[in-house]
Amino acid sequence: MKTGTTVNRHATRQSTTWLLPVVWLLLTICGTAVAEEQGGGAVPNPGIELWRAVREGPPPGVSRSQVEGIGMTTLIAEGGERWRQLRSNYVAPWGGWALVGMLGVLTLFHLVRKSPERFDGSSGKVIVRFPDYDRILHWFMAGTFLFLAISGLILLLGRYVILPLVGPQAFGAIASASKEGHNLFGPVFIVSLTLFVLRFAQRNFFARGDLAWLAKGGGMLSGKHVSAGFFNAGEKILFWSITFGGLAISISGLILVFPLFGQSRELMQLMLLVHGIAALVLIAFTFGHMYLGSIGLPGSFNAMNTGKVDADWAHAHHDRWHREAEEKGLIEKAPS
Ligand code: HEM
Repeated sequence: MKTGTTVNRHATRQSTTWLLPVVWLLLTICGTAVAEEQGGGAVPNPGIELWRAVREGPPPGVSRSQVEGIGMTTLIAEGGERWRQLRSNYVAPWGGWALVGMLGVLTLFHLVRKSPERFDGSSGKVIVRFPDYDRILHWFMAGTFLFLAISGLILLLGRYVILPLVGPQAFGAIASASKEGHNLFGPVFIVSLTLFVLRFAQRNFFARGDLAWLAKGGGMLSGKHVSAGFFNAGEKILFWSITFGGLAISISGLILVFPLFGQSRELMQLMLLVHGIAALVLIAFTFGHMYLGSIGLPGSFNAMNTGKVDADWAHAHHDRWHREAEEKGLIEKAPS
């Protein structure tokens, strides 16, 4: 009998347990309805509200800071994180690989192209191509540009490429020296670029014959010489890219290096992107230029080294300029 009662009680408890979740659900629905009626919805979380206010920042004129200046009342600069991700996830890796790609393309081109013609000086004649002043300007600009390119690449890519090789202490010293050097030489590059552009611009205006040169790809693939004046269309494109790319790098660089004129954080972030992207494009272009100015076109380097080029080289690469030099009697006997 006793056993029968226990079994019955147990059975009753089991048959009612399914009611518990239903009751809990009803209570929750009622509770939410009452809260909404009282103007609430979910119970507000003071933490969320606080952080939302911190992120959005105060309305203008409401907040004060003892330190005066643009952005001093901003507690969390939301755009900074977006900028950091853009720089670290896109500009740095894509830029780095683009430069590696450019070096790869040039190496491949060098290996598969027809051997370029060599000029051994057998013509016995030379033409002055760049007098001292032109060459000094070229190497002044090239030197400052290369220094800025190397120190800038260390700042952009060093933590991925150099840090794992040399460790944090050595990399700290390298990065710090690169930063100081970069800031110091930036304004020097602007001076060199200005002088260079003033001196070379006139010879780089596009003229008849440039389109035909471009249409034939400058004879790079066919290996046949294409008619050109003092500068060919490829050199003119390089010149204007350096002029306008250099202008973008210079203006953005000045905004970054002198943060004293009320420039906002957002403007500085934008300028860092402009500065980095323009510099990466120009560095890739100058890889091509350095190749063609040295082993890519035998005989070219003399133009920026001694200032004189072999008359046969001039006839092959810049035939219209060679003809002019001939007409003006500017072809000299090569020094023995
Ligand atoms: C160390 C590497 C470099 C070498 C071997 C080199 C070589 C040369 C040579 C041989 C020329 C004369 C081409 C000709 O006779 O038509 C030249 C012109 C020129 N170089 Fe360089 N260069 C170097 C670095 C640079 C750099 C870094 C820049 C840019 C910042 C640069 C910008 C120019 C420009 C703009 C011209 C004149 C092209 C024109 O006005 O159309 N060079 N270079």
